[in-house]
Amino acid sequence: MAEDVLLVEHLPVDPETDDGGVIALVTINRPNKLNALNQDVMGAIKAYAKEVETQGNVRCVVFTGAAPGPAPEGRRPKPNAFVAGADIAEFAGKGSEEIYPIFADNGWEAIWGISKPTIAMIDGFALGGGCEVAVACDLRIASDRSSFGTPEINLGLMPGGGGTQRLARLIGLGRAMELVFTGEMIDANEAGRIGLVNHVVPAEDLLERTLTLARSIGSKSAATMKVAKATMRAAMETSLSEGLTVELDAFSALFDSADTAIGVNAFLSRETPTWTHE
Ligand code: COA
Repeated sequence: MAEDVLLVEHLPVDPETDDGGVIALVTINRPNKLNALNQDVMGAIKAYAKEVETQGNVRCVVFTGAAPGPAPEGRRPKPNAFVAGADIAEFAGKGSEEIYPIFADNGWEAIWGISKPTIAMIDGFALGGGCEVAVACDLRIASDRSSFGTPEINLGLMPGGGGTQRLARLIGLGRAMELVFTGEMIDANEAGRIGLVNHVVPAEDLLERTLTLARSIGSKSAATMKVAKATMRAAMETSLSEGLTVELDAFSALFDSADTAIGVNAFLSRETPTWTHE
């Protein structure tokens, strides 16, 4: 994995029983540049997305941004950021021939492609490519001091990491167009109101509330969770009737899986299910 621009920590899903399942806490670590996504970060995200597919014990992946360190003498402290966008310094002087391959094989798609549930834990700026990282995750939880936006228009640009597509599907075309066309920021409460984030919590509670959510998800059957995620994703790609067929196929197939038998039998015997987590 490339240097330390991406830090990965494994936390037990259930510290009491410790069945081996872990939550992966993945920190984008360039706080002096507000965790802006340069090619090193993108490369590390792509490599991590491949690696996590091979790690059967990882039940949920949480993406976050590193908190700023103390300010050097006489300098103002850096603000908190989830990710303040793609690294603008890497845009300068590039033409379409250089940009196209970089954006055709990118970190947002890598995150989107992770088969396990993903959560963006946001504390601070989630702008441009940072907002798109959040939107590439399945769920989003933000501190009350966070702000969101797609300010690319102010650079004579537009979103290029799924912001014209995934964002519109998440919050609706009209709201997404307002964000993209104005480039203006909205605060966490507004982001919560329009469904851009699932939860807004006090900054001091953010980690614990995120882990509570991740533990809840991580305690379920990993095998069923993958099927549920893939099936719900089909809703983004298909017509309603095709999607319902995808659901019927996936739902029926679960009845041949060990974990469905375990879950149903455990309910009927009033026991707690012990999943195979295969
Ligand atoms: N790409 C590259 N560097 C970035 C960056 C980005 N997207 N966002 C912030 N940084 C860097 C700044 O250049 C600065 O670096 P320096 O200290 O070495 O000069 C550092 O991060 C801190 O940012 P700064 O602008 O000084 O903080 P601020 O509190 O004054 O403003 C923001 C914070 C988020 C409002 C401002 O940094 C900003 O507008 N960032 C760009 C957001 C954007 O347009 N994103 C979309 C990119 S496609």
